[in-house]
Amino acid sequence: MDKRMGSLVMIAVLMLVTRRWIGVEARPAVERRNLLANGLGMTPPMGWNTWNHFYCNINETVIRESADALVSTGLAKLGYRYVNIDDCWAEHDRDSKGYLVPRKSTFPSGIKALADYVHGKGLKLGIYSDAGSRTCSQTMPGSLGHEQKDAETFASWGIDYLKYDNCNNGDLKPMKRGDMHPDLWADKLGNSWRTTMDINDSWESMVSRADQNEVYAEHARPDSWNDPNMLEIGNGGMSNNEYIVHFSLWAVSKAPLLIGCDVRNLSKETMAILGNEEICSVFKRRRTVVVLLNRSPEFRIITAQWDDIGIPPKTIVEARDLWKHATLKKRFVNKVKANVPPHACKMFLLMPLPLSE
Ligand SMILES: *[C@@H]1O[C@H](CO)[C@@H](O)[C@H](O)[C@H]1NC(C)=O
Ligand SMILES: *[C@@H]1O[C@H](CO)[C@@H](O)[C@H](O)[C@H]1NC(C)=O
Ligand SMILES: *[C@@H]1O[C@H](CO)[C@@H](O)[C@H](O)[C@H]1NC(C)=O
Repeated sequence: MDKRMGSLVMIAVLMLVTRRWIGVEARPAVERRNLLANGLGMTPPMGWNTWNHFYCNINETVIRESADALVSTGLAKLGYRYVNIDDCWAEHDRDSKGYLVPRKSTFPSGIKALADYVHGKGLKLGIYSDAGSRTCSQTMPGSLGHEQKDAETFASWGIDYLKYDNCNNGDLKPMKRGDMHPDLWADKLGNSWRTTMDINDSWESMVSRADQNEVYAEHARPDSWNDPNMLEIGNGGMSNNEYIVHFSLWAVSKAPLLIGCDVRNLSKETMAILGNEEICSVFKRRRTVVVLLNRSPEFRIITAQWDDIGIPPKTIVEARDLWKHATLKKRFVNKVKANVPPHACKMFLLMPLPLSE
């Protein structure tokens, strides 16, 4: 998947209006509408995707069990409602009429049955295709030249979300389309787009994706979200603190929160991260949040000035630690700072207090 930077087209239903960046004031939702003002994706998508843990080793059983797990763990209630099938779900070739065919050996009941199952649990089903002749795995056809037919097929199955990759495109430009910068054109086509190459389950990869994504912060807004790729939390390649950083950075960036581990077998630690109810709640709303990140291998005092965050000078602020689940007794003026362990972060919800007299 995504050996080329994929564009991600999303058809989604989400809730409340959001937005506040580190230091960047949001454009109000009404100020700018994209062509796909479809009312979907008002907040960034949340759910689960097969790729980061299972790669091509998927089938209808693991997808049903994962849907079950999203509900039984309580993650669905927090907003993780998309169950997204990534690459490798179809037969190698189209049928004689040109339709994509679910792979018989792994999806014997077909995708429509899976959509019905997932919908029956109050969840949504996502699927994957590619703008080229074959998908990135090469195991199934891409949609190039079959776009209309495939869109109709997905609609007839009851698909709620499409991830659209960009492998094997014969060097066709995504547009007179502005080449590999979906932030510049994709808001007319989808609700979310990739801003980075694929992530892997390592600290270096994760923080570099966050850095690359940050460049496009100005382009993110309700209906149109930057995607630094799916979550690796729970896959075992990072420390617990590093996974906390991963979740904090994705949440504060309003990135899609698409879980990429085996949700049928979540450790307590992983559940405490993905299931952080306060962060999931803040993520969906317009709030002022700051992440103090220590990238270094030693403890560091990290400071954020009100000036950097867009809070008026002299404002007195109450801070809630979203990982400790505690409101700090101390009030902050002009800045907030903390002593942060190596490869770790603090995440504070900042609540300006009304000026007295
Ligand atoms: C379905 O996929 C899962 C995850 O890769 C695997 O553990 C399981 O054996 C597969 N089941 C079948 C019936 O192939
Ligand atoms: C993961 O990504 C990092 C940084 O992008 C890279 O240095 C590393 O080689 C990658 N690891 C694997 C296993 O691909
Ligand atoms: C479940 O997760 C644990 C680690 O948290 C791992 O050791 C174990 O192998 C996993 N079990 C399965 C069936 O994947």
